Amino acid sequence: MRKVEIFDTTLRDGEQSAGVNLHTHEKLEIAYQLARYGVDVMEAGYPASSPGDFDAVSQIAKSIKGCSVAGLARHVQSDVDAVWEAVKDAEAPRLHLFIATSPIHMQDKLRMTPNQVFEAAQSMVRYAAKRFSDIEWSAEDATRSEWPFLAELIEAVIRAGATVINLPDTVGYTTPAEYSQMFKYIQEHVPNIHRVKLSAHCHDDLGLAVANSIAAIEAGVTQIEGTINGIGERAGNASLEEVAVALAIRRDYYQAETRLDLAQTMRTSRLVSKLTGMVVPANKAVVGANAFAHESGIHQDGVLKNVLTYEIIRPEMIGLASNSLVLGKHSGRHAFREKCQELGLHLSDDEFNQLFKNFKQLTEKKKDVTDDDILALALEASANSGRPHYELEYLHVSFGSNAITTATLGVRMADGTKGQEAATGNGSVEAIYRTIERLLNHPVELQDYRIQSTTGGKDSLAEVYVRVGYDGAFGNGRGVDNDVLAASAKAFLDAVNRIALKREFKEVGVS
Ligand code: KIV
Ligand code: ZN
Repeated sequence: MRKVEIFDTTLRDGEQSAGVNLHTHEKLEIAYQLARYGVDVMEAGYPASSPGDFDAVSQIAKSIKGCSVAGLARHVQSDVDAVWEAVKDAEAPRLHLFIATSPIHMQDKLRMTPNQVFEAAQSMVRYAAKRFSDIEWSAEDATRSEWPFLAELIEAVIRAGATVINLPDTVGYTTPAEYSQMFKYIQEHVPNIHRVKLSAHCHDDLGLAVANSIAAIEAGVTQIEGTINGIGERAGNASLEEVAVALAIRRDYYQAETRLDLAQTMRTSRLVSKLTGMVVPANKAVVGANAFAHESGIHQDGVLKNVLTYEIIRPEMIGLASNSLVLGKHSGRHAFREKCQELGLHLSDDEFNQLFKNFKQLTEKKKDVTDDDILALALEASANSGRPHYELEYLHVSFGSNAITTATLGVRMADGTKGQEAATGNGSVEAIYRTIERLLNHPVELQDYRIQSTTGGKDSLAEVYVRVGYDGAFGNGRGVDNDVLAASAKAFLDAVNRIALKREFKEVGVS
């Protein structure tokens, strides 16, 4: 079996998805799960882009064991220095340097000639090699670049010290056959190519990212880059779980395998979806809610006789069957702590105590508490731990089909003071959001509102996701509660908190 390494960029390319805005502790939670999943490299962010990103990359580099931690940099010395400062404490630090190589990007974006790009690439890799022993060099928009130019450039950066060569399909333009020919051409025309790993990085603009990544593996590539659930810029990146499961299911054909613990697939997918607010489509391959649902009578009949008639992936393989009913009213601290450990939650004593209290409150209202419920409560608690500016104290809503809906709401401010207000609206959610606007004394534009239940059943927790515009910026928020209206209020405040916190981070800076 050939080994294929997995380079996860959920926290960098994935975090670039429109509206995604993660707190540092949420990035850490994802990073721990990615390590448990078994990724070989995780790209933790772009340290030079903001103090917040620098801080997140540096915390991840210090905390995560068992894989390389990479940071992204342009061909700018200060970017390279920032990556070094952020990842130097990692078990295996990696620099990811990128520069555009296609005619359109060089001319119209960089305003550089091919010679200037050549010189910049060579000298920046030489500069980086003074500190980094692992340097990934990426030719941005490689699939629209001229192959002979790419070959010359790659030979030069390998001589300068690059250890991994990545050829991204930045705009999702290539096809499986063309991408594989490009990698073959590079292997045939770059004399020192055997000294480095070759890597593929695909975007999904034409829906070909996974197919292109697999074509690259067939052409000899040994590292695949992508994200969990395929989140990322525009139509997203190659979905790593799809690549890994395809290789596992068709081992007979590809004769290649990854190091991923596929039983962690569902947990990783759910965590990323919940924290980013990016819903996984029901019909998505591998992790979609309908991926194992058999609707037609003929299919159901076949599956009952032999499940393999219509099901090529066993749910256990991706950890789907493990969402068992777990704890209830009589469960004690010990059992709860064990469950938290099993779920891979990283909690301080205070966080654990708060979560246990919330769990106990939930068992008063919900008989069976599942893994998903506990995860939802934990994520809710973590959303509130980022020094929120506004926290919901109480909520009262008066609704009648023939009456004016009124909301009264109390909020605790960051400085400990409390505020309360009331407002009316055409519906309960509108009344709540108008009340919050009054409390903030500032308009908040609601751009998107989505609600989903954590589990089935009337007593399920409600999860609300919103996207708002506030004070010249946009952000997502989420709220979890037994009650949909309380969840709606929390989500709205969470979005405002995230925008305020991000601004504060930028203003204050981080050492
Ligand atoms: O898509 C792309 O080209 C990238 C680079 C930064 C590697 O994400
Ligand atoms: Zn990309």
